[in-house]
Amino acid sequence: MFPPSFVVGLFAVAGVVSQTVDKYDYIVVGSGPGGAPLAANLARAGQTVLLLEAGVDLGDNKNYSDIANFNAAGNDEKSRWDFFVRHSDDEEREAKYEKTTWRNPDGSFYVGLEPPEGAQRLGVYYPRAATLGGCAMHNGGICTLPADDDWNYIAEITGDETWLAGNMRKYFEKMEANEYLPPGTVGHGFDGYLNTTISDPSFMEQTSDVQKVAAEIIDLIGGDVARDINAPDPDRDQSTGVFGLASHADRNGKRAGTNTYIRKTLADPAKYPLTIQLESLVTKVLFSDEAEEPTAIGVEFLQGPYQYEADPRYNGSQGEIGRVFANKEVIIAGGAFNSPQILKLSGIGPAEELERFDIPIVKDLPGVGERLADNYEAGLLALADKPLNGTSGPVAVLLKTPTARKNRNIHGWCASFSFEGFYPGFPTDYGPSEYECALVHMNPRSQAGYVRLRSANPQEMPDINLNFFAEGEDEDLTEILDGVKELRKAFNAAGPPITPFDEKHPCPGKNQNCTDAAQKEYIKLQSYSHHASSTCAIGSAEDKMAVLDSKFRVHGVKNLRVVDASAFPTVPGAFPVCPTFMLSEKASDDILKELSTTPH
Ligand SMILES: Cc1cc2nc3c(=O)[nH]c(=O)nc-3n(C[C@H](O)[C@H](O)[C@H](O)COP(=O)(O)OP(=O)(O)OC[C@H]3O[C@@H](n4cnc5c(N)ncnc54)[C@H](O)[C@@H]3O)c2cc1C
Ligand SMILES: *[C@@H]1O[C@H](CO)[C@@H](O)[C@H](O)[C@H]1NC(C)=O
Ligand SMILES: *[C@@H]1O[C@H](CO)[C@@H](O)[C@H](O)[C@H]1NC(C)=O
Ligand SMILES: *[C@@H]1O[C@H](CO)[C@@H](O)[C@H](O)[C@H]1NC(C)=O
Ligand SMILES: *[C@@H]1O[C@H](CO)[C@@H](O)[C@H](O)[C@H]1NC(C)=O
Ligand SMILES: *[C@@H]1O[C@H](CO)[C@@H](O)[C@H](O)[C@H]1NC(C)=O
Repeated sequence: MFPPSFVVGLFAVAGVVSQTVDKYDYIVVGSGPGGAPLAANLARAGQTVLLLEAGVDLGDNKNYSDIANFNAAGNDEKSRWDFFVRHSDDEEREAKYEKTTWRNPDGSFYVGLEPPEGAQRLGVYYPRAATLGGCAMHNGGICTLPADDDWNYIAEITGDETWLAGNMRKYFEKMEANEYLPPGTVGHGFDGYLNTTISDPSFMEQTSDVQKVAAEIIDLIGGDVARDINAPDPDRDQSTGVFGLASHADRNGKRAGTNTYIRKTLADPAKYPLTIQLESLVTKVLFSDEAEEPTAIGVEFLQGPYQYEADPRYNGSQGEIGRVFANKEVIIAGGAFNSPQILKLSGIGPAEELERFDIPIVKDLPGVGERLADNYEAGLLALADKPLNGTSGPVAVLLKTPTARKNRNIHGWCASFSFEGFYPGFPTDYGPSEYECALVHMNPRSQAGYVRLRSANPQEMPDINLNFFAEGEDEDLTEILDGVKELRKAFNAAGPPITPFDEKHPCPGKNQNCTDAAQKEYIKLQSYSHHASSTCAIGSAEDKMAVLDSKFRVHGVKNLRVVDASAFPTVPGAFPVCPTFMLSEKASDDILKELSTTPH
């Protein structure tokens, strides 16, 4: 490897260049569930690690530390990256999305279908958190492991058996600090960094309206509110009914995972060689000019607050340009929207797209930014005939509807709440009589979404189209509707004075007299999502659209990996956050094993 000063000269661009000469063994870009555990684990193994993060550390702010405040966190300007996406290319269809967001001439948002004069359509709001810890700092925190088949699939397409579900379970056991089961329970961990708890099941002992509705759901589909949703049941992909809703928070309601693990690592008296650099927007990977094969040697970044257009405080100013170099590897973990953007800006992506923006091609990889997949989510939301008393729940439900391909296919959670997708100021509130089952459809049949550049400007957000229902439309809609119909039965079984429910959707009114076609149309137009994945998908070298090999290495590029939700070839189960923690644990293990077998 040549001296960094040479590289600085070689890549000189306009702007102030800070001649960073620091070198680390590893540079990790992004501190979400993909990047944070990996950075901490590598440092704990004695490697010098630099973790670069665009946002700041909000770990002490109650919006983030207390998981109950997730809606406040999601709306908090201090971490918000506001993306605006499309659900399709069909303008007419997009125009019917009820939570369409617009920018008013005065800069404020309008949400709805009748924008004021002069408003500019932004699209479907899609929140991301830019802060130390990533989206695990503002998310709902629901921790449900994916189907065993979702892991086994990766083993199948790559031939790498370390991806088999039985092996992946070991990573869960390593990282989990379970607080809801007796210590030693098989399939769980009790001394990791990811504290897990379940929603308090004691509300079922009350006599209340909320308890009554939950009891009807249990009567209908079985299970109970303390059942372990992450049990290593050999038949877990088939197991349905009610479960306890698990989340990555401790018994005091404090979020656990990314930020807490980083802090623990930094605070350890062992003084692990982990360096965190905040407010640093990585703009590209730097490559060796000497090596024959493309070889990553470092990254370039913009240093300063609010450097990305998605930040509501962004004002177009450009921070100082810095560079930093890695002795061993660069690992990208910017999440499903930003990792493909970083690769493309670095010259790794579909050649045609890169040429359009005059980005020198380092490696033509047509799959970068493609195969974007997301779980569809839609709500059965209704207003009871009286204000509902009792604590709100929630209960987790897993269903396998009649046309499911192989495994259970719907993961819902039901409680006295309302949620109708994301928009500035979310969520909705229909008062004390509201009750909802939000249904997440797993394993969408379509993966036709994409993240593509709008320009070569790294501060500009990419063009994101989720292309919902592009394939398997009727099958997926039928499965969601069948889930709705099932749970609606339980609502109605609650009886007076709770019923009749006045349904908000998908079949408005008290008599629930809608055609299947009408309900499917509602679900198709109004479903939303927040589990984006697969834009830098793992796959075999023969698969032209694969971006990574089974060890997270970018195909055809040396010393460069991607470790975050974009690596999954399909959306992992219903809730990606715990699978992404597991993926990060696996990457740590793979990298450290390689180190111990290859001379450096
Ligand atoms: C509102 C919401 C609720 C959710 N609820 C749940 C839930 O209940 N359960 C669940 O399982 N999943 C949930 N998810 C999804 C889950 O949080 C994500 O799938 C997960 O966080 C993905 O992890 P990641 O590491 O891939 O990316 P992220 O968490 O997005 O982390 C990426 C990090 O990289 C940083 N970054 C990006 N680009 C750059 C750059 N160029 N330079 C430097 N830093 C950069 C970002 O600031 C961020 O900190 C939710 C998501 C949202 C948005
Ligand atoms: C929490 O977030 C809300 C926005 O949802 C914001 O108004 C409030 O100031 C934040 N609180 C703190 C302590 O930062
Ligand atoms: C979180 O888990 C750790 C185990 O790693 C444990 O020491 C700690 O007490 C847990 N936190 C709480 C509040 O229970
Ligand atoms: C809730 O209201 C019902 C009547 O609908 C009543 O029987 C019950 O005692 C109430 N429960 C609580 C916890 O207030
Ligand atoms: C723009 O934002 C930067 C921080 O990135 C700040 O220093 C600067 O003062 C702002 N400029 C204006 C004109 O608001
Ligand atoms: C349901 O709708 C059909 C057709 O729209 C109508 O004929 C029927 O009377 C309705 N039934 C009820 C119970 O409202």
